[in-house]
Amino acid sequence: MAIILAIETSCDETGVAIVKNRHILSNIVASQIDIHQRYGGIVPEVASRQHLEVINACLEQAMEQAHLGWDEIDGIAVTVAPGLMGALLVGLATAKTLAMVHHKPLLGIHHLEGHIYASYLSDPQLNPPFLCLLVSGGHTSLISVQGCGDYQMLGGTRDDAVGEAFDKTARLLGLGYPGGPAIDRAAKQGNPDAYQLPEGKVSHPQGGYYPYEFSFSGLKTAVSRLVNQLESQGKLAVNDLAASFQETVTRSLSERTIACALDHGLDTIVVGGGVAANGSLREKLTAKARENGLRVHFPAMKLCTDNAAMIACAGVQHYLRDRVSPLSITATSRLPLTEVMSLYEIPKQLSIPKNMS
Ligand code: KG4
Ligand code: ZN
Repeated sequence: MAIILAIETSCDETGVAIVKNRHILSNIVASQIDIHQRYGGIVPEVASRQHLEVINACLEQAMEQAHLGWDEIDGIAVTVAPGLMGALLVGLATAKTLAMVHHKPLLGIHHLEGHIYASYLSDPQLNPPFLCLLVSGGHTSLISVQGCGDYQMLGGTRDDAVGEAFDKTARLLGLGYPGGPAIDRAAKQGNPDAYQLPEGKVSHPQGGYYPYEFSFSGLKTAVSRLVNQLESQGKLAVNDLAASFQETVTRSLSERTIACALDHGLDTIVVGGGVAANGSLREKLTAKARENGLRVHFPAMKLCTDNAAMIACAGVQHYLRDRVSPLSITATSRLPLTEVMSLYEIPKQLSIPKNMS
C-alpha cells in the first residue's frame, strides 16, 4: 500500500494530487489555458510564473480534500522530465522542499510514464505486458510496456506529434487554441469523407513503408494548401475539413496500433495523453481492437490531459518497487522514456537522513 502526493508543472497545467494505490484522494488542476489563449499558444515564461502563483494554493487544496495529515503521506512524486525547463523547476523546487521538511522520499517521474499509468486509476486489474499508444501535444509513440520502468519504443512520429498536428490544423481553420478539443467538436458537424488527405506513411529505403511510424507534417501542409484554395474560391467548409483531418489521423493511429499489437503478441492496448480524449480515436480503436480480439483501455476523460493524479499513480508504482530519487535530482527538458531508471539511484532508506531535524 502507498499514499503518494504528486506535483505536475511540466507545461501549462499546475497539478497537485494525492493517490492511494490506484484510488484518487484529491486531484487539483489549475489550467492556464485562458491565459495562453491570448497568445495563440503556450508562452514558457508566462507558464513558469503562473505555476509559481498558484502552486501553494493547489497544494493546500489537495491536502484539504484528501483529509490527510503529512504523517500519512508515504512519498512525494514530481514530474522532472520532459517539459518546459522553467515550469518543471517550480514543481521540483516545491517537491524537494516538501520532501526535506516532512522527511519523505522523493520520486522524480517521467511525464510520459504518468500518461501510461493514467488508465490504472480506472482499472485495478490492468498490468503489463501491454502496448501503450501515447498521443500528446509533444509525443506520438508506440511503447511496449513489459514492467514499471521497462519500456521499449516500437514506433513513433518522424516529425510533428499528433496533438501538435491537431493544434496547428485548428489554427489553420481558425478554430483557436487548444486545437484538439475544437477539432473534435467541429468534426461532429462535418463529413469525414469530404476530402481525401495523405495518411503520412514513412517510406522504407528498401521499399514499402515502416509499419509503425507516423508523419504528420505532410498532412498539415495538405490542409494548409486546401484551406488557401477553398478560401480563394469562397468554399471553405471548416467542419468538413476538421472531420476529414480527424478521420485521416485517427484511422492511421488505429490501424498501425492494432498492427503493432498483433505483430508483437500484445493483447492489451493502453492509450494515454491528451489526444486519448478524442471521440473518434476512442470509437475507432475500440471497434478495431474488438474485431481483432484485443482489449483497449482509455483513461477517464479528465485524466487524458495533464494532471498530477497520473504522476502520483506512476509514483506509487516506483515506490512499491523501493525506488527513490536523490535530493540532488535535476529537471531535464528532454529524457528518453527508456532512460527513466536513471532517475532512481539510491535505496529508499538512505535518501533522507532521519537525523536532519
Ligand atoms: O497530454 P497533454 O495534456 O499535454 C502534453 O503532454 O502534451 O496533451 C495536450 C494535447 C494538445 O495538443 C491538445 O490539442 C490535445 O492534447 N487534445 C486533443 C483533445 N483534447 C486534447 N486532441 C484531440 N482531441 C481531443 N479531444
Ligand atoms: Zn502530457
